[in-house]
Amino acid sequence: MNAIRPVARRAKSLSSTLGFGEKLFTSGDERRFAAAVEEGLEAVEARLVLEMSFADDLADVTSRYLLDAGGKRVRPTLALMTAQLGDGNNDAVIAAAEAIEVIHLASLYHDDVMDEAQMRRGVPSAQSVWGNSVAILTGDLLFARASKIVAGLGEEAIRLQADTFERLCLGQLHETIGPGDGEDPIAHYLGVLADKTGSLIAAAAQTGAVLSGAPLEYRTAVTAYGEKIGVAFQLVDDIIDLAPPVDETGKNAGTDLRSGVATLPLLYLRRLAEIDSDADELLTRIEHNVNVADLGHADDADLTAAIAELREHEVTRQTRAEAHRWAREAVEAIRPLPPGPVKKALTQFAESIVERSN
Ligand code: FPP
Ligand code: MG
Repeated sequence: MNAIRPVARRAKSLSSTLGFGEKLFTSGDERRFAAAVEEGLEAVEARLVLEMSFADDLADVTSRYLLDAGGKRVRPTLALMTAQLGDGNNDAVIAAAEAIEVIHLASLYHDDVMDEAQMRRGVPSAQSVWGNSVAILTGDLLFARASKIVAGLGEEAIRLQADTFERLCLGQLHETIGPGDGEDPIAHYLGVLADKTGSLIAAAAQTGAVLSGAPLEYRTAVTAYGEKIGVAFQLVDDIIDLAPPVDETGKNAGTDLRSGVATLPLLYLRRLAEIDSDADELLTRIEHNVNVADLGHADDADLTAAIAELREHEVTRQTRAEAHRWAREAVEAIRPLPPGPVKKALTQFAESIVERSN
């Protein structure tokens, strides 16, 4: 039943996965770096396919579902890139890169249940196929599997995994309950993004450096870098959320806003609405329509028009500027790295994250 499948899904090159121009890797050093990361990714992919096997037919199918649906493998790629600061793709680096992708996958199963998401990676979300219980248990199984892999990597890795898991859960929890009394909603939101996304990306960058034996100051630098690009990535997501649909997934512009998530453009709009009546009017139209949508009385045309206005609004430009600021800080964080392909690729990656449009 658990036949080994070919490792053929990663047809994309490293450059296209990370949004680099194909001409990024030109010198011999750079080409060797790119080849090492590509090779590492093939090894990770092969292990991922083998690892999604639970001696249970249903669990095998449900756990492979989102893996097979796609994904950019950003976290393993980062781990492999930072491993090139030390002795490269050793067994521990490959295993850790795999475990981090499995943790990420696990979190997606749970997140889609919490968000009641219909689609993920272009396919119906797991819980809309099998129901909430199966989706939650699949996430748990994957997390258990990741823990088994990390158990072989030593105490530092186990502790990092536990700390990261804690931050992922706290990020989700804080997002769910919202800011406390007297807490600044924007600072709260940025904290949520750092915890729910920055922490795992930071862990990926850190693990590659630690398990390859890279110098201590490089480890600290790439960890800070990972956290900051994680926040930049999520902020760009907030802008992309406002874009009109470009495919046949049936997603409306403003999916997050419609489901009640206060993304950064909306938080900026709320702040501006306290002193600006036009902003207040736009905010009222959005919030009124989102609230009545719950009761099935929303005027969809009005909400769509209001979201289009928000897309062109100053607050969305401010959100983009904030994403750029996090990306710039990420690049500043890796200043201690030696000049060379790793620094170049990480710099380019930070820039491509804030330029992406999907
Ligand atoms: C996606 O955010 C969600 C995350 C980045 C983290 C989810 C974390 C958990 C569910 C807790 C950890 C659980 C396990 C099993 C490791 P989003 O909803 O803003 O993004 P989306 O558009 O991709 O859904
Ligand atoms: Mg979600």
